[in-house]
Amino acid sequence: MKEKDIVCKINVFDLSEVAGPVRHLVEEAISATERSYAPYSHFCVGAAIRLDNGEIVTGANQENVAYPSGTCAERSACFYAHARYPEAKFVEIAIAARGCDGKLVADPISPCGACRQALLEYEVLAGKGVTVWLVGRDKVYQLPSVASLLPLAFTDF
Ligand code: THU
Repeated sequence: MKEKDIVCKINVFDLSEVAGPVRHLVEEAISATERSYAPYSHFCVGAAIRLDNGEIVTGANQENVAYPSGTCAERSACFYAHARYPEAKFVEIAIAARGCDGKLVADPISPCGACRQALLEYEVLAGKGVTVWLVGRDKVYQLPSVASLLPLAFTDF
């Protein structure tokens, strides 16, 4: 028997340190929270994906009175991105959330299991790590890939 460590390395930035194109992506994710439809949870999530064709595609969670029929921000963004630009590869994604008080959550949220699996599909298509930016009120976490959020993932059969 051998032990194997699975390590997930995260870079933690102050929001004020994040500048340039990444800051723009982060702001797009924050703006996308305004387009969330969350009358049941009042938890507004936004996601912004940068594609290798230069486009940024955003999504927000869309809830439904039949609760499981709703969709998270990350899946609304990645499905729309690939439906709109099927040839483009994903480069990076930023995810932000606002709570009931309307403020950005203090600590960054990270995608649910289903969204990790969905995003991973597009990372595989991209052929390299899709950088993940998780946005909180003061801190931003950077992860090198979706795979780092989903160790031992199911990728093929
Ligand atoms: N939600 C997302 O959109 N993304 C996440 O990463 C976690 C949760 C949504 C689903 C639901 O509309 C609301 O947040 C509360 O769970």
